[in-house]
Formats: sequence, C-alpha cells, structure tokens
Amino acid sequence: MKPKVIVYKKVNQKVLEYIKQTCEVVYFEELDSQNDSEFLHELKDAHGLFGVGLGIDKKLLDQAPQLKIVSNVAVGYDNLDLLELSKRGIMATNTPEVLNETVADTVMGLIIATARRMPELDYWVKNGQWDSMLEEKWFGVDVHHKVLGIIGMGGIGTAIAKRAHFGFNMDILYHNRSRNHEAEQTYGATYCSLEELLNQSDFVCLMTPLTPETEKLMGLREFEQMKQSAIFINASRGKTVDEEALIQALQKGEILAAGLDVFDPEPVQKDNPLLSMKNVVTLPHIGSATMETRFNMAMLAAENLVVGLKGDVPPNLIKSEVNTK
Ligand code: DGY
Repeated sequence: MKPKVIVYKKVNQKVLEYIKQTCEVVYFEELDSQNDSEFLHELKDAHGLFGVGLGIDKKLLDQAPQLKIVSNVAVGYDNLDLLELSKRGIMATNTPEVLNETVADTVMGLIIATARRMPELDYWVKNGQWDSMLEEKWFGVDVHHKVLGIIGMGGIGTAIAKRAHFGFNMDILYHNRSRNHEAEQTYGATYCSLEELLNQSDFVCLMTPLTPETEKLMGLREFEQMKQSAIFINASRGKTVDEEALIQALQKGEILAAGLDVFDPEPVQKDNPLLSMKNVVTLPHIGSATMETRFNMAMLAAENLVVGLKGDVPPNLIKSEVNTK
C-alpha cells in the first residue's frame, strides 16, 4: 500500500506527479478555515506532510499518529517544533542551497532600490510629476565601495558577499555563530562582533535564521549602534527584528532607510506604520520567489519526502535530536 501524503500548498504538476508515483496524495492548494476540518480528518492516517508555513506543533502532531515525515518547502523551519517531532521520531526536512543565488539577487535588489529610492521615483515618474530637472532632494546614496555588514553568513549570506565583493567593490563585515572561510578567503569578508558591524556598516543586512537566540536580535540598542546614514535590510524573518524599535529608529532618524522582505506578522498589517514611510521599501516575502527556484525547491522537498517515506535518510534531513540518535 502506498503511504498517504497531504500536500497543503499549490504545487507544480510535475512535482505532484512525481510524488504520486510512490504516494497516495491528498491535495489542498492552500489551507483555510473552509477546509480546516477536512485537513484534520485527513491528518489522522497521513504518513507525510508537504508544504510551507504551517505551524507543526504538539497540538497538530497529536492529530497525526501515523506521521513519519514533514517536508518543509522552505529553507527556514521556524514553523516546526523540532523537539516535538524528535520525541515522536518524525523526520523533518527543508530545502537549503537551491535558493541561495535567488535570495541573494533579491537582497541586492532591495539594497539598490532602497539606496537609490527606486520605488519612490518610479511612483513620481508614473504620476506625471517629472516635469522639471531632477532636484537634489531626490538623490539617493551610493552602494558601490561602501561597507556591507551581513548578520548570518550561511549559504545566502555568502552569495550576497560574492555579489557585493565582485560586483560592487564593497568591503564586507560579517557576524555569525562560526567563521566562514569561503566568505573570508574568496570574498574578503572580515569577521567581527555585532556591535562593530553595526557601528561600521553603511548597509546592515540581516540574514540569520529565526531561533530563540535570534528573536528580536535587532532592537532599540542595536539600531542606536548603527550609523545615521546607514540602511537596514531584512530578508530573514520578521521576528528577528523588534519592529517597534525599527519604527522608532526610522522616525527619530537614527538610521536612513530600510528595505524589508519580511514582517511580523505576515501578511503585513495594513496599519503598520512602516507602510507609510517613504524611506522604507517593502516586498511581500519574495526572497526565493522565481519560477525556477520555487520549482527547484518543491522538487527537492518532494525528493526528501519520497526518500524519507521509503525508509531511507532524506538528503536534507534537519539535524535535531531525532536524527543524531
Ligand atoms: C524560506 O525558504 O525559508 C523562504 O523564506 C521562504 O519561506
């Protein structure tokens, strides 16, 4: 008998067909209040879960006694309660590496868009306001030859460093749990404390995964430590920043501007003060959202799922207690 899998996100047909070769699939394009009870019903005898964003916690796992694997279609897995999964011997997988270059492109885009005020000027042109020579009040600031501070030098941080070093002649500072020799040797990155990074960087780019240690890593004190001329970029998770502190820093002019791909909560609330600030560039969590990369992520997640359900070790097993036993 084929194992039963619940796919709870819209997924490319080829990926779905691949999963169906070895699994019985129950497919929800998305989960909402309409299909919640149907989803919970299907969960009772499901062996695998495939999707993104859903909080997989004790309450949900209590409803899924047959579950063997959770395949997260994302590199980040802050939505998974790893301890609960581990206690129950359920595997969890993610999709690292395949999205590094795409997210790095997004981050460079955010840096340039924020520094050169592109969305503001785009609006200005389309609104028919370009009726005189550009005045100095619309000028932005340079990106090239500046100092870029990267907090979280994993695969994505390294891909950003590569672009910044070779493409923009930037000096790179980084802060990370461990030293990254590739970033140091190939892209000239210098390891330093968080405080030094904040003091010296013209662009501070937050790329760390969300963990209990990194929650609200950027708060009032950290924004005060940044240069007044500096730009803050967040493409990690909304919760790595104390959003109130960011709003205050922008309102008080403690930093120049911000480029944000992530918020807390998501979708961002319509009355969030960040949305009415001209010096804030916003994106709807699109770091990895290209046709190619989202397909590659889904295919990798499908491979993880199928391999795990066959009883083998999936290529991207998340290292937690259960996996080191
Ligand atoms: C990831 O893969 O973690 C991206 O942020 C999409 O959620």
